[in-house]
Amino acid sequence: MTVRASTLADQHLVLVGMMGAGKTTVGRIVADRLHRPLFDSDAVIEARTGRTVRAIFATDGEAAFRDLESSVLHEALDSETPAVIAAAGGVVLREENRMALRRARARVVWLCADPALLAERVTAGGHRPLLDDDPAAVLRRMWDEREPLYRAVADAIVGVDGRSVHEVVEAVLR
Ligand code: S3P
Repeated sequence: MTVRASTLADQHLVLVGMMGAGKTTVGRIVADRLHRPLFDSDAVIEARTGRTVRAIFATDGEAAFRDLESSVLHEALDSETPAVIAAAGGVVLREENRMALRRARARVVWLCADPALLAERVTAGGHRPLLDDDPAAVLRRMWDEREPLYRAVADAIVGVDGRSVHEVVEAVLR
């Protein structure tokens, strides 16, 4: 039996998508509405290590960050209590993570945004060192690489362009 046979109430709800698509904001509201814990992978990494995502990138490099990201994603997916998981934009890069997302007791919702519009609204700086130089070009490149990967793990796709946070929340819950 595959875990996909479990009921929605038993499953984690995982939000994936590009930086700035609204995973954290939407995840917080959806978690409240469903009375579930929110597991935000960047926030968990920062709390665990006592370091910022930016500092980890700068000192240890991206590969070390991706190791941490994979390990907190697996931990969240393995946890018993159904949660809302706001997965950082890069989780789909590793095949082991994509397989875990497909196999887990989870529904994966892709918050899908046009990269050109993302570039206008995404907040660079902070926990997003990859956007320090020419965010629009970086987001475009990331989109080309990741679009098929998000599509491969998604059980549902919710478009965010032209929608309010409230509308996106309702679409995710549906
Ligand atoms: C990244 C996304 C960021 C953060 C890091 C790398 C990415 O998280 O993990 O800057 O590679 O897409 P958000 O998706 O929450 O912005």
